Amino acid sequence: MGAATPDSVVTTARVGSILAVTVNNPPVNALGVAVRQGLAAAMAAAQADSGVAGVLLVGAGKAFIAGADIREFGKPTMPPSLPEVCRSIEDCTKPVVAVLHGAALGGGLEVALSAHYRLALPAAKLGLPEVTLGLLPGSGGTQRAPRLMGVKAATELMLSGQHLSAKAALAAGLVDQLAEGDDARAVGLDYLSGLLARNAPVRRTRDIAIADPAAALAELAALKADTAKKIRGLFSPLKIIECVQAAVQLPFDEGMARERALFLECLDSPQRAGLIHAFFAEREVVKVPEAQAAAPRAFARIGIVGGGTMGAGIAVSALDAGYPVTMVERDAESIARGRANVEKVYTGLVAKGRMAEEAKAAVMARYTGSTSYDDLANVDLVIEAVFEDLEVKKAVFKELDRVCKPGAVLATNTSYLDIDAIAAATRRPQDVIGLHFFSPANIMKLLEIVVPAKVSADVVATAFELAKKLKKVPVRAGVCDGFIGNRILAVYRDAANHVLEDGASPYEIDAAVREFGYPMGPFQVSDLAGGDIGWATRKRKAATRDPKARYVEIADRIAERGWYGQKTGRGWYLYPEGARMGQQDPEVLAIVDAERARKGITPRTFSHEEIMRRYMAAMVNEGAKVLEEGIALRPLDIDVTFLSGYGFPRYRGGPMQWADMQGLDKVLADIEAFAKEDAQFWQPAALLKKLVAEGRNFASLNQRG
Ligand code: 3HC
Ligand code: NAI
Repeated sequence: MGAATPDSVVTTARVGSILAVTVNNPPVNALGVAVRQGLAAAMAAAQADSGVAGVLLVGAGKAFIAGADIREFGKPTMPPSLPEVCRSIEDCTKPVVAVLHGAALGGGLEVALSAHYRLALPAAKLGLPEVTLGLLPGSGGTQRAPRLMGVKAATELMLSGQHLSAKAALAAGLVDQLAEGDDARAVGLDYLSGLLARNAPVRRTRDIAIADPAAALAELAALKADTAKKIRGLFSPLKIIECVQAAVQLPFDEGMARERALFLECLDSPQRAGLIHAFFAEREVVKVPEAQAAAPRAFARIGIVGGGTMGAGIAVSALDAGYPVTMVERDAESIARGRANVEKVYTGLVAKGRMAEEAKAAVMARYTGSTSYDDLANVDLVIEAVFEDLEVKKAVFKELDRVCKPGAVLATNTSYLDIDAIAAATRRPQDVIGLHFFSPANIMKLLEIVVPAKVSADVVATAFELAKKLKKVPVRAGVCDGFIGNRILAVYRDAANHVLEDGASPYEIDAAVREFGYPMGPFQVSDLAGGDIGWATRKRKAATRDPKARYVEIADRIAERGWYGQKTGRGWYLYPEGARMGQQDPEVLAIVDAERARKGITPRTFSHEEIMRRYMAAMVNEGAKVLEEGIALRPLDIDVTFLSGYGFPRYRGGPMQWADMQGLDKVLADIEAFAKEDAQFWQPAALLKKLVAEGRNFASLNQRG
């Protein structure tokens, strides 16, 4: 495939007195330099040619234009800039019509807002999602959208990054008319011919006055106060509001200049790099060897064993995606509870007015509860979610092997157990795989697809297909204790416990982690999940724990008191009367002090910065070990795991991207310094040392091979 040239990605054709301009830059007509040059040349030609009376802008293929070419950000900008291209469209003295189909997003919508008339086909999606990439609409979107749709609606659109349907865009004033049919070019030619026939004028968005500026500024002030509370360190939302303030207060050209300056600030921000890494990582993560080598098996009916927290959540996820679900439980009482667990999710939606009673009945009609494994004879894919006990799971898989039809995919939702051993309980290990959902399974996006030694490639491909159908973010993981996520989590939780025992309070640690951008700190998470769960795991693992490894008992002292967190009214925090926000508990601090004293530890102070250096160094070091053992295919798989399943701040791109942005030499130096206190815990990963020695970063391992 040759390099894109302006005349290959933007083609023009004369249809009577209309110049039809088509952007043809697959897959999504992104506005790379060649497209910008092509559009600028087409507009110049239209302006210069007295035979041209009007211009039609359309996109070829599945989209109008999905925005700037994200791959160009961070590289030197090549002229013409997109604001210049938009200006040449708006300046045109002949009517310019844009017909939108598929995605008209970001810079793509900004091109359309610069046109004089806009049509949308019914399936078009319009939006200014730059905020999701750490940016703001930088080609006049912040100046033109408020003029067309009002200050409040435009600002909310830009702050949310949401896509509007064509119908909603019409109602909001972003487009002039919806068009029937699916041929954007034909629809546009027809419409523009009509405009020309009646000598319709050129209408420039920039000439629209913003109604009631004082009221608009008051709305912006309210949005700013609300946004500041929600953004957890995100940079671009407040800049968006500043741009819109400029749109209200300044003449158009000055507003544009302000937008440009703030756009460049966002472009330079590390948050932009982190968010764009996340965007591409989420698209790369599905590209795994097995899914590329084999076609998925067909599946239409899903079975679930176990109707507890996870089984019910997985059932809801499958029902939501339209599948019939058969759930098997141990006995009549348990299956009644399993069904109730599923039904209560929909009852909640009905109560909130988000689902109609009939829709609930229709979904529940696809659900079958049973106490007999024989009812799984017809399912194509079954997911086991029974107690986390190897012997129980092996017994379940023996039963599945007995009843399931040949070729059915047999999956386990185990969090930690050896899936090779579970597979070995069947006569068909090639069909056995791990599907590790996160709680609540109908809401959390992450799905670790755990690949045991004997599974066949088409089963792995089927798991990725299932993830797509259930709208999950799949990450391929190898078999080990905890797979990618929980294995790494265990290590940085230990690092947090060490810091706790050495002098920081749980509240300081949580505050440091929140300041870093997490929604909650680790002790808040423990209170939410239930301290009994971690305690049970620690007791189970006590026998195999390395006696030389540092073990902090503070969490056990809390759990022994029955202080499991929110559900018991107290844990690390106090929750008076079922409050969800915890209050600091002096008794917890006294327990922490007593434990330190028992171990002869004199507490010292930790800055939030030091807390995070330790927390992150532990995360990155274990991440590097997970990589060198092949548990994760690429650093980006670890990043996506933490972004989708563990609340890692998206604008930091994930732990491995964060490490690259710090400099791996700095992270390694920290680990080596901490190792002087505890060489057993802080053993630098060989891969990390190798990358530092070679002057490379984790991103170099993300390159497609
Ligand atoms: N630039 C470069 N590549 C892009 C792109 C873009 N704007 N948008 C999508 N792609 C690539 C994807 O990386 C993917 O590549 P791959 O096949 O090699 O993995 C391919 O196009 C297809 O994308 P999806 O897999 O996401 O396809 P979908 O059909 O699921 O979704 C979409 C299509 C809704 C357009 C989605 O890709 C999307 O949301 N894209 C980003 C839109 C966006 O954020 N635009 C704003 C850009 S910033 C901007 O315009 C700044 C301006 O204000 C100055
Ligand atoms: P749970 O205790 O809420 O539910 C387990 C269910 O399995 C119970 O309803 C029980 O009656 C049923 N069950 C037990 N033996 C059975 C058998 N032989 N046949 C049929 N049903 C049987 O447990 P939970 O939390 O749903 O966990 C289930 C699995 O999911 C475990 O492997 C766990 O490690 C894993 N997991 C749990 C997560 C969580 O946050 N709770 C997150 C991810 C995975």
